[in-house]
Amino acid sequence: MQFKTIIEPFRIKTVEPIRRTTHAERETALKEAGYNLFLLKAEDVLIDLLTDSGTGAMSSAQWAGMMQGDESYAGARSFYRFETAVQEITNLKHIIPTHQGRAAERILFGAALKPGDIVPNNTHFDTTRANIEYRAAAALDIPIPEGRQPELLHPFKGNIDLEALEKIIVENPGKVPLVMITVTNNSGGGQPVSMANIRGASEICRRHNIPLFLDACRFAENAWFIKMREHGYADKTPLEIAQEMFSYVDGCTMSAKKDGMANIGGFLALNDDTLAQQCKNMLILTEGFPTYGGLAGYDLEAIAVGLHEVVQEDYLRYRIRSVGYLGDKLIDAGVPIVQPTGGHAIYIDAKTMLPHIPQSEYPAWALSLALYLAGGIRSVEIGSVMFGLQPDGSEKPAAMELVRLAFPRRMYTQSHVDYLAEVLLYVNEIKEQIRGVKFTESPPVLRHFTAKFAPAHGEIIIAQRI
Ligand code: F0G
Repeated sequence: MQFKTIIEPFRIKTVEPIRRTTHAERETALKEAGYNLFLLKAEDVLIDLLTDSGTGAMSSAQWAGMMQGDESYAGARSFYRFETAVQEITNLKHIIPTHQGRAAERILFGAALKPGDIVPNNTHFDTTRANIEYRAAAALDIPIPEGRQPELLHPFKGNIDLEALEKIIVENPGKVPLVMITVTNNSGGGQPVSMANIRGASEICRRHNIPLFLDACRFAENAWFIKMREHGYADKTPLEIAQEMFSYVDGCTMSAKKDGMANIGGFLALNDDTLAQQCKNMLILTEGFPTYGGLAGYDLEAIAVGLHEVVQEDYLRYRIRSVGYLGDKLIDAGVPIVQPTGGHAIYIDAKTMLPHIPQSEYPAWALSLALYLAGGIRSVEIGSVMFGLQPDGSEKPAAMELVRLAFPRRMYTQSHVDYLAEVLLYVNEIKEQIRGVKFTESPPVLRHFTAKFAPAHGEIIIAQRI
């Protein structure tokens, strides 16, 4: 007998209380934070879905591994364990630890890019884009057109547009030093990339002698979608699928705060000896010696164990289903979300949900504030606040106005998700009362982290108190 309920495949050994607040307390907290959820105190948040990055619960095996951390400055045992774990999945030659994903990006782009270069990707994450633009190069997003239509169903909406990719390479000789594919495509809705698409991009890149890199933050979730949705992979293990994904690329950047199941860490992995040497030299400048790269030995141990745990079928089945479970409830209630649901997060389509708020008043930002006021939920805007500011200082509305509810790994249970659904459905009912916002302070780069706002019409965001 196969029972159909998918349970959390763990039991809870350590707990951390979360704090309820009143609507009035949340109003005050929000005002003090300049209407920016990044500037809230975490203890004023009940369910924190700001990010799935570094926020997950570690396993007892990871904590046990940490006790075995070797803190030697050079050649630590923990580094070799980490290197073996990464190589088992990627089979890449040089494994360079970094303190998190963006450090791997900065080091790679510092060594590989020159001003005027172009780096295509299905969709660059914000730090990836910023690190490319910091090198005076262009970060180009070329997802398949289906990837930009929130309600359209497609099994691999994260795919990169292969035709566009080849065209860019051909039309810009010598200007594309590397190509990236982000798995899963975070900024495009946590959508997976098919094996066929990675293989296709790899063929194009090899034909033009350009290295292909994975932004591999959520490689295991991507592997699970391939297993579920792509012909020929149902009987393969997530590890085997991941190994095949990496077999088509020349390197990767990785934030171990996602599918490394750790609270900190990352790596850059690549095959090219010369480029690896340049990267290691830069690593020493700011991160540390190449066998620790800004991490403690115990962090390397936590990642080594985490990489093993993340490819377990029980875990991935529960992980992807818990996101889908909330997605189903929202779809049933008519809340517009990116479909099908992604791997690590639900993305609400604020442009469709709040047609009365123009993009110039940041509908997704306003919706994220409303969710906090209504139920103490912290989400993140992925829209015109995050992506609207252009390198030349001008403003251009983002292609989509999304609110992301990202699920920390192994953190919340089904009743937390039921509560979330209740709050979301309530906010959907009173959506006409939500009003837009305007900037009061705006830093020149990565502005969403520290910008301050005010309601655009001198009104509170939600008229009705609960
Ligand atoms: N690439 C992708 C696809 C990411 O999602 C992130 C981080 C990074 C790179 C950078 O990694 O944070 O370790 O420096 N994403 C987090 C998020 C912050 O909330 O999606 P990092």
